[in-house]
Amino acid sequence: MKPGAERIFVALDFPAREPALDLARRLAPLGCGFKVGLELLSAEGPGIIEELADQGLRVFVDAKLHDIPNTVHGAARALAARGAWMITIHVPGGPEMAAAALAGARAGTPPGREPPRVVGVTVLTSLSAAQLAQGAGVERDPAAEVVRRALAARRWGLDGVVCAPQEARDLRRLLGPDMLLVTPGIRPAGSAPDDQRRVATAGEAVCWGADYLVVGRPVREAAHPVAALAALAEEVERAGAR
Ligand code: C5P
Repeated sequence: MKPGAERIFVALDFPAREPALDLARRLAPLGCGFKVGLELLSAEGPGIIEELADQGLRVFVDAKLHDIPNTVHGAARALAARGAWMITIHVPGGPEMAAAALAGARAGTPPGREPPRVVGVTVLTSLSAAQLAQGAGVERDPAAEVVRRALAARRWGLDGVVCAPQEARDLRRLLGPDMLLVTPGIRPAGSAPDDQRRVATAGEAVCWGADYLVVGRPVREAAHPVAALAALAEEVERAGAR
């Protein structure tokens, strides 16, 4: 176990189960969680969640559910039954869909386990103001829309939201201490941002109020993934518990 690692979820963005399970095996002793996204879920099916959860690992299933409430209820129930520790939904799905996700998550949880946290994706960080206007008819500045949707997520009883590290500062102030803030876009100081636009170091994200950090390429593509994760965990630990 490496203090600080418990707040990091390593994104298993792989096209097949073998490299995903291999990386999980190497990193698990540090105490991090793992994020299963649409790529791995689509390639291997929900059995991959079970394979990881059965090893005692925390699995964040980033399925970004967005459908009619009845369908989302069933999907959340199924993900909970497979052992998901946290799942995502799209906030624009509305209050009934959010309630259905929370109820489904509870309904699917095996006895004696705690239901997965349900966190909301506010505005995809890949969307520019122009795309948000074209795609969703939202003429507001994306940052203002993130705040509006995060406040809605809290009203609807979601457990937290996914946001950029820079957004965590305002959201922590506005949402109070109880909403989980989950931030991707983490890069070690001085490294390449890849396709992420708004990046921050692990220490910055924690200082700004993030509870959990999602890290993909900086660990997955490192020459020594265990050392890369250990360094990030140290940074998280130094930045201090909230
Ligand atoms: O490789 P990298 O560290 O950029 O990976 C970030 C992970 O977080 C990816 O799995 C990506 O899908 C996810 N993510 C993101 N931005 C969001 C939501 C999720 O990068 N707004």
